[in-house]
Amino acid sequence: MQSAARVAAYQPVQRRNPYLPHMARIVRVYKMVLDNYLFTMRFIDDHMAQNFHHSPGQFVMLSLPGAGEAPISISSSPSRPGILEFCVRRAGRVTNALYRLKTNDVVGIRGPYGHGFPLADIAGNDLLVVAGGLGMAPLRSLLWYSLDNRDKFNKITLMYGARTPADMLFREELVSLVDRTDMTCLLTVDADPTGAWKNYIGLPTRLFDFAEINPATTYAAVCGPPVMYKFILQKLLALEFPKDRILMSLERRMKCGVGKCGHCSVGYKYTCLHGPIFTYWDALNLPEMI
Ligand SMILES: Cc1cc2nc3c(=O)[nH]c(=O)nc-3n(C[C@H](O)[C@H](O)[C@H](O)COP(=O)(O)OP(=O)(O)OC[C@H]3O[C@@H](n4cnc5c(N)ncnc54)[C@H](O)[C@@H]3O)c2cc1C
Ligand code: FES
Repeated sequence: MQSAARVAAYQPVQRRNPYLPHMARIVRVYKMVLDNYLFTMRFIDDHMAQNFHHSPGQFVMLSLPGAGEAPISISSSPSRPGILEFCVRRAGRVTNALYRLKTNDVVGIRGPYGHGFPLADIAGNDLLVVAGGLGMAPLRSLLWYSLDNRDKFNKITLMYGARTPADMLFREELVSLVDRTDMTCLLTVDADPTGAWKNYIGLPTRLFDFAEINPATTYAAVCGPPVMYKFILQKLLALEFPKDRILMSLERRMKCGVGKCGHCSVGYKYTCLHGPIFTYWDALNLPEMI
């Protein structure tokens, strides 16, 4: 007689096609900045909406019929379930098609994919979030997760830079954090044509002069344009941050999102599978990662 385990092994397994997206409805389109909109979405299937779990730093593949798929970071925090928020810059085929959609229109979402920030390691430590421009998209999820779970983290510091106040993503939300006493929120712009900006003016590296950072007890999460990485990394290394305490969200062109097609490979790693969050130590050991 066959053992129960053997019989179970021969049962036909009903696996869901991993490339099949779940349908989600757009519940809000908020024009934050020219060509940078915040899309709020909810899965049509209620069970899916309630049971979708992600970690800050993970991304989804967003699909639109006739246009294709694009990897987009989840900007909302898992501490606020039920909806998903995506901060999307208009770039090409998929994002242009998304920008033509309105409230109640439907898109496909598969994921979440990749490794997010190592929350278990960061817990009990200080958290320094350093963002530039669109880099705030993945870091916002981590920021709100840490603020919603305030007791799990020690000092929380945000440093965010944009070109002008009008270019600053999530501006109202972030300006409202400046007065919080349980965190340090430092916002800077390269230039202020209006003269009405009440925060800092200058490059994000300057913000280090206004924060007390102890590299031995801090994890730094960094995301921004390539030029910003260069200067922020120089600053963090000058402060003697251990290389495995510098966490970076890195982008590569992606197709499958699940480690099958090889499009996003860097050295022996797949950005979609082993990233998009890498330590500086990882990045140093991978050719052309940064
Ligand atoms: C893990 C991950 C997370 C991302 N999160 C976000 C996000 O939260 N918000 C957001 O707006 N975008 C995000 N992106 C970038 C977004 O996926 C690309 O801009 C994507 O190409 C948009 O698709 P599209 O069809 O509109 O543009 P496409 O038609 O594919 O391309 C538009 C232009 O962007 C260039 N391009 C495409 N991909 C890349 C890339 N990886 N690096 C450099 N240049 C590229 C193309 O050469 C072209 O010039 C993310 C990318 C990755 C890998
Ligand atoms: S996108 Fe296919 S392997 Fe990463």
